Amino acid sequence: MTGPLAGLSCVVTGAASGIGRATAERFAAEGASLVLTDIDDEGLAKVLPGRDVVRVAGDVAEPADAAAMVDGAVGTYGRLDVLVANAGIIPMADVVATSVADWDAVLRVDGRGMFLTCKYAVEHMKDSGGGSIVCVSSISGVAGQRGQAAYGPAKFVASGLAKHLAVEWAAHGIRVNAVAPGTIRTERVRRLAGEPGGSGYLAAMERMHPLGRLGEPAEVAAAIAFLAGRDASFVTGVVLPVDGGYLAQ
Ligand SMILES: NC(=O)c1ccc[n+]([C@@H]2O[C@H](COP(=O)([O-])OP(=O)(O)OC[C@H]3O[C@@H](n4cnc5c(N)ncnc54)[C@H](O)[C@@H]3O)[C@@H](O)[C@H]2O)c1
Repeated sequence: MTGPLAGLSCVVTGAASGIGRATAERFAAEGASLVLTDIDDEGLAKVLPGRDVVRVAGDVAEPADAAAMVDGAVGTYGRLDVLVANAGIIPMADVVATSVADWDAVLRVDGRGMFLTCKYAVEHMKDSGGGSIVCVSSISGVAGQRGQAAYGPAKFVASGLAKHLAVEWAAHGIRVNAVAPGTIRTERVRRLAGEPGGSGYLAAMERMHPLGRLGEPAEVAAAIAFLAGRDASFVTGVVLPVDGGYLAQ
């Protein structure tokens, strides 16, 4: 198989559901060699059933677990070409309702976890001729929104890592980009409908995306596949909106 991802050794974090699972499916269809990781080991086992992939259960915010995810690729395929740093949690609350514990919890996963997986990926890629990292940010990691006092700032970490690491490691052949999805119909967003104010929020979000609907996980996966693969060989340090025009307003 030839194609932008064919034969590349790729780690996807948070692959058990939502955008991560759609990315795993897209990468598999393009012939990537996959390491799928998630804290949810039962969910992870159900992704790409029967397919020859490596599965590593663990917490991206634990250094040993994050290192094991990258080591899974190097140990099995001999190298790491692509990291998709996608694992994250999405709590919704304004700053008054956000406790110190809430802040620490989201920064632990969306901040520290993204930092650790990028760090260990770069440690391998810098000595192996380069590679590509895609951090999953958000429209909330580019612009302000209501009711995301901890989650929004946490997603700025993903956008910031993409820009800073892109500059820091370009000379080593490592490209680092981010996607900034709008509201995407993943398991997490579907659950919002049952949370206080959630269904009203979702209806408002549909209206606020100029294309007039929420996005699908596969549409984000397609953008991730582009940035990760050979077709984006001169693209680095970009935060690419995948948002139905939300950030263009
Ligand atoms: N759904 C959206 O509207 C949307 C919009 C913009 C950005 N995002 C971002 O996309 C990413 C994926 O979100 P999603 O909507 O697919 O959510 P999701 O809940 O469907 O999937 C997230 C996955 O990450 C895993 N995970 C959570 N904490 C983890 C940890 N500590 N270690 C390892 N795995 C962990 C979960 O088990 C889950 O499988 C997140 O980074 C999120 O911020 C989502």
